[in-house]
Amino acid sequence: MAQPAGVLKEYTLPQVVNNKTSTSSKMTIREYKKIGEGAFGTVVEAVLRYADNSSSSTTTTTTTSSSPHETAANGTTLSSTNESFASNGNNHHKDNGNNNGWLGPFAIKRVPAQTEYKSRELEILRVVHHPNIVSLRFFFDKRSSADDKVYQNLVMECLPSTLQSEIKFYRQSKYTIPYPHMKAYTFQLARAMLYLHGLGVSHRDIKPSNILVDPNTIQLKICDFGSAKKLEPNQPSVSYICSRYYRAPELIVGCSLYTTKIDIWGLGCVIAEMFLGKPIFQGHSPETQLKEIAKLLGPPPNTFFFKSNPQYRGNMYTTRMFSCTVEERFKQIFSNSPPDAIDLLMKILVYDPEQRASPRKVLVHSFFQELKSPEFKVYPRGASAPIVLDLFNFSDFELELLGPYKSELL
Ligand SMILES: Nc1ncnc2c1ncn2[C@@H]1O[C@H](COP(=O)(O)OP(=O)(O)OP(=O)(O)O)[C@@H](O)[C@H]1O
Ligand SMILES: [Mg+2]
Repeated sequence: MAQPAGVLKEYTLPQVVNNKTSTSSKMTIREYKKIGEGAFGTVVEAVLRYADNSSSSTTTTTTTSSSPHETAANGTTLSSTNESFASNGNNHHKDNGNNNGWLGPFAIKRVPAQTEYKSRELEILRVVHHPNIVSLRFFFDKRSSADDKVYQNLVMECLPSTLQSEIKFYRQSKYTIPYPHMKAYTFQLARAMLYLHGLGVSHRDIKPSNILVDPNTIQLKICDFGSAKKLEPNQPSVSYICSRYYRAPELIVGCSLYTTKIDIWGLGCVIAEMFLGKPIFQGHSPETQLKEIAKLLGPPPNTFFFKSNPQYRGNMYTTRMFSCTVEERFKQIFSNSPPDAIDLLMKILVYDPEQRASPRKVLVHSFFQELKSPEFKVYPRGASAPIVLDLFNFSDFELELLGPYKSELL
């Protein structure tokens, strides 16, 4: 039978697991265009429909267990209670209640089920529920007829763009992302980190292509949990994670007892990139990545190497590469950026992870003052009317994590 226009593939599987109810059902998957390709997976846009014409055609309760930190989410709930939602930008098959039962559009990420590299993506996505983290709706395994290998399929909510595409879009027109948008995006990113780090989870691959955005609503959601891990105190983890330009200095020198502060370094790199229109530290090799950082922060102190990895024998870049103070250096590099943004960056881009700002310190920084004003308005690109953003709808768990800082945000 001929497939509807634009459809790449359509198939029915007996066991598709609903992430919210943990029940598996027979569902039909209709795949549209490819929307992403990464080092590990392929991402396609798709819609799903319960086969048997029933949204409650449950067959089995899945045995996939939730990880222990589910309870640590302290009652946080799914950001949406209904898996049928209409997303922005992809309007050729929105679910508006009369779409023959098709749910979506979704983004399906497909990765080989068995690899040498241990991915905890499904395990972690199953238990994180936050407005600024992409939500998992369904998942299933499927054997590919092309190579006879089993692939894990993660069916997630779909956003129309990434921060990488947005930065590129503005750079091509010789602009930067408008400041109010930057502030709203950065705030949401820091909020996602407050939550994730509160669960002990480090994303370990923060970079603009792993940050989904909707330029129509200025919503932001972190995606790609393929490298994420719950870090346990005093338990070593591999240091060869995170994409080169966004790697924290302690990772570069081979630290194995690092903390969630590696994500905060990534956050700093992402903020810097929004202002500069290009990655701030573009090392040509893993070794010279540290040199690029030293061009802004000066030589790393000896204590940094000692605390990160006393065995490090690589180049320590002890020669100062500029004559002014570090603050003046920041002002030179970010010559077009507002003083409060430079102050925030100076608190984040710090060698010592213990001195690096925490997510809650970031959230209360004066850079975000404007967002708290009742007069704050944001105009999405090309829109003639402003929209209201719901940036302060903190859950009880987030309020607990904010602790004494919450009075500054509410
Ligand atoms: N939920 C989603 N909605 C829309 N687009 C998405 C979604 N998830 C992923 N993408 C797109 O697919 C791309 C690749 O996805 P993802 O980063 O998860 O895969 P990956 O193979 O782990 O990538 P890499 O290793 O290169 O970082 C993203 O950069 C983004 O453009
Ligand atoms: Mg990615």
